[in-house]
Amino acid sequence: MIDLHTHILPNIDDGASDIEISLQMTEALYTQNIMKAVCTPHFDPSSTSLEDFIKRRTSALSRMSGSRIQLIPASETILHEYLFHYHDLSKLCIEDTRYLLLELPYLKKLDSKILDDISRLLDYYNIIPIIAHIERYHAIRRKQIKTLIKMGCMIQLNTGAILNKRTRKKALQYIKKEYINVIGSDCHDMQKRPPYMRKALELIEYKLGAPYCERLEYYAEGIINGIELMKKKSYIIE
Ligand SMILES: [Fe+2]
Repeated sequence: MIDLHTHILPNIDDGASDIEISLQMTEALYTQNIMKAVCTPHFDPSSTSLEDFIKRRTSALSRMSGSRIQLIPASETILHEYLFHYHDLSKLCIEDTRYLLLELPYLKKLDSKILDDISRLLDYYNIIPIIAHIERYHAIRRKQIKTLIKMGCMIQLNTGAILNKRTRKKALQYIKKEYINVIGSDCHDMQKRPPYMRKALELIEYKLGAPYCERLEYYAEGIINGIELMKKKSYIIE
């Protein structure tokens, strides 16, 4: 299984503050039998240039040779108008794929501006957005998730939403309704936001059944391998 959303890389964003913590985070995933993690440091085009971000990400990744799990470079990119100053956003995508973990700005509703920007990423930039931590946006309910899926987006849920008793019911419903393609820990450190994957997978299996975990694994593997999953027949649980 793969952790598709992590802030493991050292000293690049508000995630791991040093290499020791980064390696502790990879070890924590290793002990949960999560052998791959997508490294998704925050990219905010209003505060950093794309070139500088890539340089810092490459340098941070080069210090991670002690990791026993595979680390895949990517980003968690905030949707901001400055993003469209660049002609090519491929380096922000999960390495060698068209998939981009996309964080939406705080929104009161999923308005036409946001939808237009997402369409631009899909059509002009040839990118497949994976909407990060869908549970965070209170303006996005089932109807809006369906709209995003219809547009061609993938949907990611944080494991915290499954582990937190207050949000668990809704998170599991979303998985059961097949709104969610992938999960990720969105880990930032070992204390407040640690890399919890296995516990969430166990809960999904216990509450919904193993096929729902297999479905999440199918999408995660497909994404990191750059497979065009939206063009394939949906993975439907019988
Ligand atoms: Fe994140």
